[in-house]
Amino acid sequence: MKSFLYLGGFVCKAVLASALVLAVHPATAQNVNEDAAETLAKAGGCFKCHSVEKAKKAPSYKKIAQKYKAKPDAEAALIKHLSGSKSVTVEGGGDEQHEPPPAKDAADLKNLVQWILSRG
Ligand code: HEC
Repeated sequence: MKSFLYLGGFVCKAVLASALVLAVHPATAQNVNEDAAETLAKAGGCFKCHSVEKAKKAPSYKKIAQKYKAKPDAEAALIKHLSGSKSVTVEGGGDEQHEPPPAKDAADLKNLVQWILSRG
């Protein structure tokens, strides 16, 4: 009986600990490599126009993530968006080229897209 109680306490702590980890790092649940994503976004100059939380010349990644939340093809759509150069209208007016980030390979680009989608 005593050992059963101990086990119960252990399971409880384990559940609490993982809930805490998930609360602090929602993205780790989806195996996003945050460092790789941020490094790639920096290398691609993405933060010149985007920030995670605030609108700059472009919508925040949080807003983009929220916009795509309910869309099942979100990942494919954003991979497509980031696979080529296209003209976008920035906040305040004017058109600028949206250049693809210098991803090492498809997995690197996919990781960045998953990172953006998990900001919401
Ligand atoms: C010159 C400014 C600028 C830079 C640099 C830039 N973006 Fe954007 N981005 C925009 C604007 C403006 C929009 C919104 C207009 C649109 O979607 O047509 C946008 C939209 C997006 C979207 C949402 C597309 C959609 O379908 O809603 C994603 C994702 C994105 N950018 C990612 C990135 C990443 C990653 C980088 C770095 C490689 C980057 N952007 C660099 C201006 C920029």
